[in-house]
Amino acid sequence: MHHLIVMMRCACRVTKSAMNSKSIAAMRISYDLATFGDTDALPDPFDQFRLWWEEVGGSTLMEPNAMSIATVTAAGTPQTRMVLMKGFDEHGVVFYTNYGSAKARDLATNPSISALFYWHSLHRQVRFTGVAHKVSAEESDAYFRIRPRGSQLGAWASNQSEPIASADDLKASFEAYEHQFADVDEIPRPENWGGYRIVPQAIEFWQGRENRLHDRILYTRGEDDHWHLNRLAP
Ligand SMILES: Cc1cc2nc3c(=O)[nH]c(=O)nc-3n(C[C@H](O)[C@H](O)[C@H](O)COP(=O)(O)O)c2cc1C
Repeated sequence: MHHLIVMMRCACRVTKSAMNSKSIAAMRISYDLATFGDTDALPDPFDQFRLWWEEVGGSTLMEPNAMSIATVTAAGTPQTRMVLMKGFDEHGVVFYTNYGSAKARDLATNPSISALFYWHSLHRQVRFTGVAHKVSAEESDAYFRIRPRGSQLGAWASNQSEPIASADDLKASFEAYEHQFADVDEIPRPENWGGYRIVPQAIEFWQGRENRLHDRILYTRGEDDHWHLNRLAP
């Protein structure tokens, strides 16, 4: 009897997963919101990024500053995770994190990094490929200062990427810092927390098009520091 129930459960799981994969395979939308023609691409990729950034800001997308970043471990294994872009200029894109985290360990041995934005409200993705440099202590201080107090305490409380015994231990650590800084108006930035600037060697802009004939424009930084443009097949 027990055996039968187990079998039935299994059969049910198989049917469910078969249904799932069918509907996943059938999922598709037509990318037809815009085009990115040969004459549309601005000569400087940061001007282009600023333009698309303004356009995504006017769209319905939540957290357009969320980006996936890929680093490479010392063993050569790629690792991706989401972070929030907290600024960009003509030098690169900045995010903040823990300097003892797994991603920081990766960057210490290999500063290569790739960052990807997917802005589905506009059928666009932008990919940065380059190297990550720590931002100056002053720049990290300035950003830490404007973070909500709870996030500042969170930065002190969490040894990011390290195993912890329980969620309660993390809460206790947060409360200990809350107590420690109870009389401090401006919580200082922990030394092991700060920013990285992704300085790109290449930036690719992708605009989804009908029939999967997407527009892809790749900007590559030349030795002369000038940007060279190529259209890529989708
Ligand atoms: C939308 C989103 C935004 C995130 N933003 C950040 C961020 O700005 N900085 C950060 O360190 N982690 C951020 N995280 C958590 C990371 O994805 C990741 O779990 C953490 O940085 C540890 O990564 P690591 O162990 O590979 O270093 C974010 C996660 C999500 C889902």
